[in-house]
Amino acid sequence: MHTQAAIIDADLWQRWHTIAGCRHHFPLLRQRVNGKALVYFDNAATSQKPQVVIDTMMRYYQEENSNIHRGVHYLSERATRAYETARGKVRRFLNASDYREVIFVRGTTEAINLVSQSYGRRNLTSGDEVLISAMEHHSNIVPWQLVCEEAGATLRVIPINDAGEILIDEYQRLLNERTKIVSLVHVSNVLGTINPVKEMISMAHARGIPVMIDGAQAVPHMKVDVQDLGCDFYAFSAHKLFGPTGVGVLYGKRALLEEMPPYQGGGDMIKSVTFERTIYNDLPYKFEAGTPNISGGIGLGAAIDYIGNLDMHALSAYEHDILEYATEQMSEIKRVRIIGTAREKAAVLSFVIEGIHPHDIGTILDDEGIAIRTGHHCAQPLMQRFGIPATARASFAFYNTKEEVDVFVKGIRKVLEVLG
Ligand SMILES: Cc1ncc(COP(=O)(O)O)c(C=O)c1O
Repeated sequence: MHTQAAIIDADLWQRWHTIAGCRHHFPLLRQRVNGKALVYFDNAATSQKPQVVIDTMMRYYQEENSNIHRGVHYLSERATRAYETARGKVRRFLNASDYREVIFVRGTTEAINLVSQSYGRRNLTSGDEVLISAMEHHSNIVPWQLVCEEAGATLRVIPINDAGEILIDEYQRLLNERTKIVSLVHVSNVLGTINPVKEMISMAHARGIPVMIDGAQAVPHMKVDVQDLGCDFYAFSAHKLFGPTGVGVLYGKRALLEEMPPYQGGGDMIKSVTFERTIYNDLPYKFEAGTPNISGGIGLGAAIDYIGNLDMHALSAYEHDILEYATEQMSEIKRVRIIGTAREKAAVLSFVIEGIHPHDIGTILDDEGIAIRTGHHCAQPLMQRFGIPATARASFAFYNTKEEVDVFVKGIRKVLEVLG
């Protein structure tokens, strides 16, 4: 278990209470479900949105709506400025060195498809290998399978231990001259494991192998600095970061992106077109064909501003305390087995209850106004690794409280009473 909660001092304690006080910024959390105060523990699927994000997107449609990049009129210039300002916010958020390294996409899934279809197709040939881990989301498995199949390359998988930690020695052993790219999840959406990606990136780089990181579950919980990590590509989705659905980011090192062919063709990604030949646009637009999700990009910028006003260290410490509290409570309940007990964990608690299907757990909790996720969480190979068809998963955000954990644990006891 993460030890950050143990190093809390008086100052952090104060800042942490400020974090918990942010709950009222999220209007949806005020509602009642099935006559009970909502307990929203499905943050790994999507997080709730603060009022400021909702207002920013509403204002865009009320005052700025226009297509971007092409217009010379007032509204188009205003919308373009707002959208490109959001790109600048993403650049600072990730500490990318250049705005050209920030590509707006639909989300993590599209970012990984972009890299696999563009970088992968260009660089993979028969006999090559792509290395992923056993705890990947389907969106970091299937795109690589598609390109491997086409190229005659092989997908190799780094094994994990029973706690849900990557076996670093096995990783070292799997890196070889045939490995053309490593693609790894930063934080597992099922296990909560925080992978030692910085160390893993340098191990791959020592052999000249580029690394893509799926940061969908990392950015809402910790400070991410792509230059410090040294990753070649980094992907995340706005909707898990308190922003809107339908937009996300691919960060890529400029030198790599310059060499890569476009992923999709269409408007905006070109400089000039004739029937004989097209000259592609500069970065980042080369990878942004068609009208983008303008309001989404602007909404993401607002979410980043919001997060930027929070103390990320205090936020992580607060969430770890919630996770530890929930883990302790759940460990006391007979027949509950926690799936994912890594030493370094973010705010995800997956579990099974002997003899009870996770869907039934989810349904009974829903009657109590508690929203959790049940199923394979788009990680079927990981379920197979643990020999289970599904789990129930509670996932926390900084706006959750220990009181909500108490309601949740009471709900679990009710599940045992009803179905036990
Ligand atoms: C670890 C991880 N990777 C990728 C994704 C896919 O994200 P999206 O559906 O927003 O593209 C998710 C979504 O749950 C995820 O948890």
